Amino acid sequence: MYKILKAEKLAEKIFLMDVEAPRVARSCQPGEFVIVKMDEKGERIPLTICDFDREKGTVTIVFQIVGASTLKMSELQAGDAFQDFVGPLGQPSEFVKEDFEEVKGRKYLFVAGGVGTAPVYPQVKWMKQHGIDADVIVGAKNKDLLILEDMMKEQAGNLYITTDDGSYVRKGMVTDVIKDLVENQGKQYDVCVAIGPMIMMKFVCKLTKELNIPTIVSMNPIMVDGTGMCGACRLTVGDEVKFACVDGPEFDGHLVNFDEAMKRQQMYKTEEGRAMLKAVE
Ligand code: FES
Repeated sequence: MYKILKAEKLAEKIFLMDVEAPRVARSCQPGEFVIVKMDEKGERIPLTICDFDREKGTVTIVFQIVGASTLKMSELQAGDAFQDFVGPLGQPSEFVKEDFEEVKGRKYLFVAGGVGTAPVYPQVKWMKQHGIDADVIVGAKNKDLLILEDMMKEQAGNLYITTDDGSYVRKGMVTDVIKDLVENQGKQYDVCVAIGPMIMMKFVCKLTKELNIPTIVSMNPIMVDGTGMCGACRLTVGDEVKFACVDGPEFDGHLVNFDEAMKRQQMYKTEEGRAMLKAVE
């Protein structure tokens, strides 16, 4: 069993948990994910890792209520435990695997949307730990849905916050901030990492393509069981077929077919949709 040491509500429907999982904590890297299961009959829920403490042996996860399983999960308290906490799974972020001299010479821009702020956090933290100042944009629908602001402030070189409704800091989309930084403030970026809702990643990629900034996205939102078996996370990247949970979750955003991925995501939200997809595959 994997004990929950801390359970905290971050915002409406968004929760953070510190889980005692020493083996995962010892080896996990930014970009990877875990699969949690509450009990014998529970659904397997893939979640990207938000933070980890190798010494304490803890892993931090952040999740949003999207259905019955995550609703049940949100009711767990410190002292409760998960039956399974499997990981680390997936591939670590590119920069973890690349030659550090090259990574050090680049200017990174991280773009986080909504609950996508959680998987961006360990990446920005990694940058700071390695002496790299990264610019970070965090977007939320409104002030109440903004998460991890203080934690992110500690790790980011510059943090730019925006809200769709203007209830905090500035009004506008994350793409407005990117445009402002590049076009008005003369900032130059070598790599953009965008993680958030699919529609946000789609529009960030459209813009960064125009601006000529290579962009990495995380396709975690389309994962269902995270095992490579259900087929839900199949996507087209360039002219190749990939599975987010096995080959990703991070991919070259300029090559991802977002429209197709979003259609599949919609289908997988319903039981009938899942049956339909299975029938045509
Ligand atoms: Fe099921 Fe990837 S999430 S195959």
